Amino acid sequence: MSEPYLSVRDLTVSFQTSSGVFTAVENISFDLEKGEILALVGESGSGKSMTSLSILRLLPEAARMTGTIRIDGQDISALPRRAMEDVRGAKIGMIFQEPMTSLNPVLTIARQMTEGLLRHKGMKRHTAFETARTCLEDVGISESGRVLAQYPHQLSGGMRQRVMIAAALALRPGVLIADEPTTALDVTVQAQVLDLLVDLKSRYGSGILLITHDIGVVAETADRVAVMRGGRILETGTAETVLGSPRHDYTKALLSSHLTVEKAMRERYNRIKAIAT
Ligand SMILES: Nc1ncnc2c1ncn2[C@@H]1O[C@H](COP(=O)(O)OP(=O)(O)OP(=O)(O)O)[C@@H](O)[C@H]1O
Ligand SMILES: [Mg+2]
Repeated sequence: MSEPYLSVRDLTVSFQTSSGVFTAVENISFDLEKGEILALVGESGSGKSMTSLSILRLLPEAARMTGTIRIDGQDISALPRRAMEDVRGAKIGMIFQEPMTSLNPVLTIARQMTEGLLRHKGMKRHTAFETARTCLEDVGISESGRVLAQYPHQLSGGMRQRVMIAAALALRPGVLIADEPTTALDVTVQAQVLDLLVDLKSRYGSGILLITHDIGVVAETADRVAVMRGGRILETGTAETVLGSPRHDYTKALLSSHLTVEKAMRERYNRIKAIAT
């Protein structure tokens, strides 16, 4: 069997604090294949973001990381900064809760969307511009020409989120890490962005690591689920198994605190059925 596109083994992240060593992530392992959504779900402080930052190798200076992370057959756990920048550009895309953290306020959308294409893909300026335009259209932005000429602050929150997703996907990364991508959005836009992620997963074939504390979001989108608590993975499996027959009391509590899970699962199965028939 070929190895998974992303594999995380025995990942531990700790901090030296004044009161001793604090372990934020403790010995976790998981895999992510292309074309699937793995949801990392758990309460605030459970170590979700530290896990994603480990994969991106963007942990805070003070953090100490051990374990092995392999992407596309390459061990990136100890890659030098320069080499890691190339991996981040070409193989791992990232989208965050707040688009303004990854969009540069003083550059037009065109400039920031083409930068990575020029640098990592060696495209000519014209091709990069057309690629950026196509990606904006792929995320449902019809007036791509106008948006490309604009600055981030001229766009609505939902539009900025779409632009950030388009910018990440333009590079065709094997893995997309989405840390709370919809938390800051209102409910309608949230649903649109989630639908978009599911759609793009099939269209681009990227694997998506979807980080959320919202089990409703998990029910709507995830193929597989890993439940985190206190830096550990409590249980992991297909969405059907973990949400349908959770083994851990903690998972059960997460589920029962969310009344719409059942509804979301039902709607999702109806959608799948509608596509299948
Ligand atoms: N620089 C740091 N020094 C010490 N501890 C830290 C540091 N950064 C984060 N932590 C701790 O690491 C733990 C895991 O944090 P992390 O950000 O991964 O949680 P999370 O699951 O993403 O939570 P949320 O849902 O609130 O985003 C938390 O207890 C946090 O306080
Ligand atoms: Mg977080």
